[in-house]
Amino acid sequence: MQTATYPASSSDQDSKVDGYMDRQPEDKPDSPAQNQTSDESQDQSSAEKGSSNNVWTSGIPAALEEATMTQPAPSTSEGPQVETMQSMQQKEVATPEQQASSNFTDKSVASSSDAASRSTENNQYKNTGKSIDNVRDRQMRKSRLTQLLDLQRKRIRPADHSTKGRYGIQDFGFLQTLGTGSFGRVHLVQSKHNRLFYAIKVLEKRKVVDMKQVEHTCDERYILSRVQHPFITILWGTFQDAKNLFMVMDFAEGGELFSLLRKCHRFPEKVAKFYAAEVILALDYLHHNQIVYRDLKPENLLLDRFGHLKIVDFGFAKRVSTNNCFTLCGTPDYLAPEIISLKPYNKAADWWSLGIFIFEMLAGYPPFYSENPMKLYENILEGSISYPQYFSQASIDLMDHLLQRDITNRYGNLKDGSMDIIMHPWFRDISWDKILTRKVEVPYVPPIRAGMGDSSQFEAYATGPTNYGNDENPEFSDIFQDF
Ligand SMILES: Nc1ncnc2c1ncn2[C@@H]1O[C@H](COP(=O)(O)OP(=O)(O)O)[C@@H](O)[C@H]1O
Ligand SMILES: [Mg+2]
Repeated sequence: MQTATYPASSSDQDSKVDGYMDRQPEDKPDSPAQNQTSDESQDQSSAEKGSSNNVWTSGIPAALEEATMTQPAPSTSEGPQVETMQSMQQKEVATPEQQASSNFTDKSVASSSDAASRSTENNQYKNTGKSIDNVRDRQMRKSRLTQLLDLQRKRIRPADHSTKGRYGIQDFGFLQTLGTGSFGRVHLVQSKHNRLFYAIKVLEKRKVVDMKQVEHTCDERYILSRVQHPFITILWGTFQDAKNLFMVMDFAEGGELFSLLRKCHRFPEKVAKFYAAEVILALDYLHHNQIVYRDLKPENLLLDRFGHLKIVDFGFAKRVSTNNCFTLCGTPDYLAPEIISLKPYNKAADWWSLGIFIFEMLAGYPPFYSENPMKLYENILEGSISYPQYFSQASIDLMDHLLQRDITNRYGNLKDGSMDIIMHPWFRDISWDKILTRKVEVPYVPPIRAGMGDSSQFEAYATGPTNYGNDENPEFSDIFQDF
């Protein structure tokens, strides 16, 4: 991954912003559609795109239960420490879900036509909060949802849970590259023990040190070793050789949401809403556990074999309490204005990025896009957004509340926290309990041969170094002793 330089002069150790060049030139977004002026035109175009690309699978029942993801089984394994999704569903979420479901619109994301749901949504949007009944209903929904989310928020692996030394290079066969980054690459690997496929992120220690990313890398390992959420990748273990760090994760077979979005140009509302909902639950979970993610973008959102999201790349994630982040990091298009202005920032920056993400899904390009990084930063700081005419009123209202330059007005950062977003009328037809338990039909099932090490959804990369495993003259083992 190449980097782009931040416009303001700064002595900050992270004055390079990761990821900008990633998004261009071949990834240059489409310009705003000029001709489409109505909801119908969007619907039609989406439908056409859907059929020509054979992308959307509305109506095709997707697997609703995730198969148990299995931990690699090297000889050193202490046995699974992570509960499977199935057991989580059975154990904890089933009861509140049943309780909550009576109060939700029982419509799956992909179950109705776009046009119908859009018109209902606009009506609901107009009626919001008008009567006492609505207020009472809202309060009830809110408290039930909070109850449901609280269960998930508490699921965190123990602090002394170690990922260190569970596996070694000898436990895996290294296959092709799935992605590259500033410090190394991510490989598809196959366990020599259970023959299952995993992804291993390899970071070159020397590069991590030279680019002053030691703290970020140690945080990445620590945070991923503790979190446990349906939409966040699982880190099974870590190890190191003389020159590299290795992080063993589940292989998200469906590829990057980024690739899907570029293929489709833009997503129909119900599709964008589905992915946004999964991201919101993951951010809500991280924030309640005092973690700010700081790198939300479609490149870091992968699809699993069933079409659900898995957030990867915790390279910028950080444990925070209040306003104590200063580091300039993230991807320029997604940076919140307070980060650009080098002000202290907090979790609210993630909610800004969510606004950018929703916009990019719906439009196919991010709201402040410019080929010139300086202009991009100016656009973000100036903050005026031109919403395409085919955006629904409710979606614009939500993005307006998220893309607030003043963080004291930004949704997600107010008294009710993420509830303001979750309860927003744009999500009126979302059953949050079903989203959390993955019991909605996904809008798109990746066309892969599941469990076969199928990397067809990833770009093809030139074969990279796989001469891993040399233990002579180990470098920096003192600073990476937790790996
Ligand atoms: N668990 C995974 N399964 C499949 N592909 C992955 C996985 N983790 C990362 N990748 C691929 O590798 C790319 C780079 O990984 P990432 O963790 O984002 O590194 P970086 O910090 O360099 O951006 C991702 O964008 C994705 O394409
Ligand atoms: Mg990344």
